[in-house]
Amino acid sequence: MKILKRIEKLKAEKNAVILAHSYTTGDVQDAADFIGDSLGLSRAAIDLDSEIIVFAGVHFMAESAALLSPEKKVLLPVADAGCPMADMITAEALKKEKKKYLDAAVVCYVNSSAAVKAESDICCTSANATNVVNSLENDTILFVPDKNLAAYVASHTKKKIIPWEGYCPIHNNFNAEHINTAKKIAPGAKLLAHPECNEEVLKSADKILSTTGIINYVKATDDNTYIIGTENGIMHKLKSENPNKVFIPLSNEAICHDMKKITLESIERALIEEKHHITVPEDIRKKAKLSLDKMLEIK
Ligand code: 13P
Ligand code: SF4
Repeated sequence: MKILKRIEKLKAEKNAVILAHSYTTGDVQDAADFIGDSLGLSRAAIDLDSEIIVFAGVHFMAESAALLSPEKKVLLPVADAGCPMADMITAEALKKEKKKYLDAAVVCYVNSSAAVKAESDICCTSANATNVVNSLENDTILFVPDKNLAAYVASHTKKKIIPWEGYCPIHNNFNAEHINTAKKIAPGAKLLAHPECNEEVLKSADKILSTTGIINYVKATDDNTYIIGTENGIMHKLKSENPNKVFIPLSNEAICHDMKKITLESIERALIEEKHHITVPEDIRKKAKLSLDKMLEIK
């Protein structure tokens, strides 16, 4: 029996679903029941009545699903599929920093551990970060862990933003040279960039959008060619949904190696062995969930 058939059989036997982020490989996305962005997938997990969720993504995403749906068994197929940006901050380091800014509210990007979320006042995503910041009474905001998303928010709010020095190595790597090269290949094409990109790239972007934002924007517009400033796994969905459009990657090197650790073989193993079960200690889970719930109340 082929691997996809075996996975389907296991899913049916175990009442399981597969959620995949759009940075995973094409074959993993094709095996998934849902493809989405970091938070969208965790929210989808709440509504599913399956007992097991195989999260084809990185650790913080599986953790978010586990903390929102503690009654489900959330499995991360590869234990060390992590997010280098999320690992640039710890709850201990954040606790220390908070003592320096007693009047500040802590806003934490969803790309962070549950322990860091638990130490924050509210979470945000790449799509709602400015709204979240502007919804708070505090004039000073400690924004963690992405310094690029922090700079983007700072340019859209009157509040004082104190950034944490974290970044996504993939998005932070894009530069003006990449833009010049892509514009030569596709003159006149719009550059769609993720807000994890650095300021140099964001100031040249035609649209600044989350991964779901990019996918929706391409579907809703009539251009023929787009330059894509995010991780290249997104090309799979863009191409399959828009077979007549052309997508130029801002860089061929924009690959998140952690996302690519998830393979069909690891998904099959995860289903057979019910591994790696991601759990969050109850005290941390409650506090982290509060930060996420507060965010979900904001339109
Ligand atoms: P979104 O999918 O939420 O836009 O986040 C991008 C990302 O870098 C996920 O790791
Ligand atoms: Fe983390 Fe960047 Fe990979 Fe997303 S693309 S998981 S932010 S390293």
